[in-house]
Amino acid sequence: MKVLLTAEQIQEGVNSLAQRIEQYYQGKPVTLVGVLIGSIVLLADLIRRLNIPLRVGLVQARRYRGRNTQPGPLAIDLEVLTAEVRGRHVLLVDDIFDTGQTLWELIPQLDELAPLSIRTAVLLRKQGRKQVDLEPDFVGFEIPNVFVVGYGLDYDDMYRNLPYVATLDNEDLK
Ligand code: XMP
Repeated sequence: MKVLLTAEQIQEGVNSLAQRIEQYYQGKPVTLVGVLIGSIVLLADLIRRLNIPLRVGLVQARRYRGRNTQPGPLAIDLEVLTAEVRGRHVLLVDDIFDTGQTLWELIPQLDELAPLSIRTAVLLRKQGRKQVDLEPDFVGFEIPNVFVVGYGLDYDDMYRNLPYVATLDNEDLK
């Protein structure tokens, strides 16, 4: 395992994200909506740095697979989105923007709940992987095209608890 971003670097990055987000949403009713599970660490750190009135919700994005096991459409589990969205600005919070497919598919589904606007914030944006016509509005760090874990990001549901972001070596991937 190799550390890509130290805990200190991440905290500075989250501070900077929070400053930009706080400025943008001054005077606007905002609901931060975290995409489960990877966003929970960022969400917890971010909301404690935002000195504006806000609400918090979560969505579970499930990708249904067809019989041939090809990835199917993404569906939001609205059961967990208990926070008010209608008539409020929504900031979707995710751990990483990789191909962009997840946020690209979530946005129109959330839009059906009639928010005033939808913006996106991610801790990490992988370079050279984008497949959709969407740029995240608030980005903590640009990273190279490598598989990363830590600070909410997992490999086989492990490593989410690391306070830093690291790349995995081949022996970690067994
Ligand atoms: P897309 O391609 O939809 O990807 O932008 C977003 C989701 O894919 C997962 N992902 C990763 N998870 N290390 C991880 O632990 C990675 O390097 C990585 N790249 C993508 C993640 O769940 C993210 O929300």
